[in-house]
Amino acid sequence: MSAQRPRVLSGVQPTGALHLGNWLGAIRNWVDLQQTHDTFFCVVDLHAITVPHDPARLAEDTLTTAALYLACGIDPQASTVFVQSHVSAHSELCWLLNCVTPLNWLERMIQFKEKALRQGADVSTGLLDYPVLMAADILLYDADRVPVGEDQKQHLELARDIAQQRINARFAPRDEQGEILPILRVPEPLILPEGARVMSLTDGRSKMSKSDSNEGSRITLLDPPELITKKIKRAKTDPVMGLEFGNPERPEADNLLGLYALLSGQSRTAAAGECAEMGWGRFKPLLAEAAVEALRPIQERYGQWRQDPATLEQVLKHGRERANAVAEATVQRVRDALGFLPRS
Ligand code: TYM
Repeated sequence: MSAQRPRVLSGVQPTGALHLGNWLGAIRNWVDLQQTHDTFFCVVDLHAITVPHDPARLAEDTLTTAALYLACGIDPQASTVFVQSHVSAHSELCWLLNCVTPLNWLERMIQFKEKALRQGADVSTGLLDYPVLMAADILLYDADRVPVGEDQKQHLELARDIAQQRINARFAPRDEQGEILPILRVPEPLILPEGARVMSLTDGRSKMSKSDSNEGSRITLLDPPELITKKIKRAKTDPVMGLEFGNPERPEADNLLGLYALLSGQSRTAAAGECAEMGWGRFKPLLAEAAVEALRPIQERYGQWRQDPATLEQVLKHGRERANAVAEATVQRVRDALGFLPRS
């Protein structure tokens, strides 16, 4: 790990078991970045309480998510793995950023509008504020790049705007030439085209999501082989023979063929060639086998991590210490720039 390497930060909410979208859209890409970047991965438990949650499950789901990061190939020697709520600078920077973020920037966030519709009159202030907390997560670590799925693009743009327009432009000092000496680093999204938008198994036009009430719509990373096979067997299809990419009339074919390519480790061209003439009845068992085989090593490693809670706890403790040192330095810079009385 070297201080010169560009920084990466990302996170997943500990709301129920992670699914193929979380893995293929985000975590899978984190693994490779460990070779070239200084990587920070947090379990964003403060985000998980922006919709009604069960206190009896939060700690357990947080551990599950952390263990899944490690099982997917995040190496605690190479990366800083930590729990968001363990580093109090996240909440503090969120407040400071709240006070400079226009309300109408938040009101136009697509995810807020979608989730708020589902919550009705009960929608929390936290849900509206979710992207500001996410901006704090990223900006605290001076992240250069933020690997996420497509659905997070708008939140990333907001984080950039807050850093650039609301903090640096307003509060940063200038050098003799009048150039801004930035307080916060402006991050870039890192959205890889393949896997960035995994769709539901029951509707190829909507995203695979933890909040879909139909569990058959997603495959979770901890689903046993029989359940994976059953979900794929029941997945929505169409009456056309042969799998293909890019036909707007056939979103399910596009999605399932894309999943097959990723899970079997083939290029899209190779997968499309293999399945061009195939009927759904032959394709589905192939896809099921590829999914079972891709998840098998993750499930095995997950089991090992959960059998060793002391080591998992150590990883998170070490992660918290490292994350805290970086985050505290950033929030101190922001406090100073905003003019707070020093703590002496
Ligand atoms: P969450 O938990 O909803 O999603 C975690 C990651 O999974 C990606 N993702 C998908 N990718 C492809 N296809 C899908 N169907 C799919 N569903 C989810 C998301 O894009 C995300 O990368 N708000 C973040 C959590 C967060 C965060 C951060 C991320 C909080 N602070 C700071 C990066 C940096 C989220 O979407 O969580």
